[in-house]
Amino acid sequence: MKFLVLNGPNLNMLGLREPAIYGAQNYDALVAFIEKSAAEAGVETVCYQSNSEGDLVTKIQQAYGVFDGIVINPAAYTHTSIAILDALKAVQIPAVEVHISDVAAREAFRQVSYAGMACVKTYKGLGFNGYREAILFLKNYLSAGTE
Ligand code: DQA
Repeated sequence: MKFLVLNGPNLNMLGLREPAIYGAQNYDALVAFIEKSAAEAGVETVCYQSNSEGDLVTKIQQAYGVFDGIVINPAAYTHTSIAILDALKAVQIPAVEVHISDVAAREAFRQVSYAGMACVKTYKGLGFNGYREAILFLKNYLSAGTE
């Protein structure tokens, strides 16, 4: 199984960015954590981060026929991007939404998730562990579908 792990704007600033909310580890540490989690789960992952909405849309489109699942933290685009929602709906690849912080306990403008409307599951407030949970969930979800 092959999963695309997408991270949106400012997640390349992890470690530096609001560490009280997002933790002290940087984006490279996140990628290492995701790769370790994927290896333990016996799945393959490709990680991609972009600060641009269009890049994320293009990556989702290009995932069609290539990846079995998508793990996505659209970051601030979560709350604004109908384009990312439409891309996820277009490719129909099972997707899981991840947020490092507990967006439900934060500002009112973070309470809407457009991308989440096209996702089978959301993990929030678990730090990096949310990505591991998402990988395990997707693996089980896809395995159940093939039985
Ligand atoms: C985030 C939460 C978003 O509201 C925020 O804009 C981010 C990161 C998270 O991982 O907690 O950039 O997606």
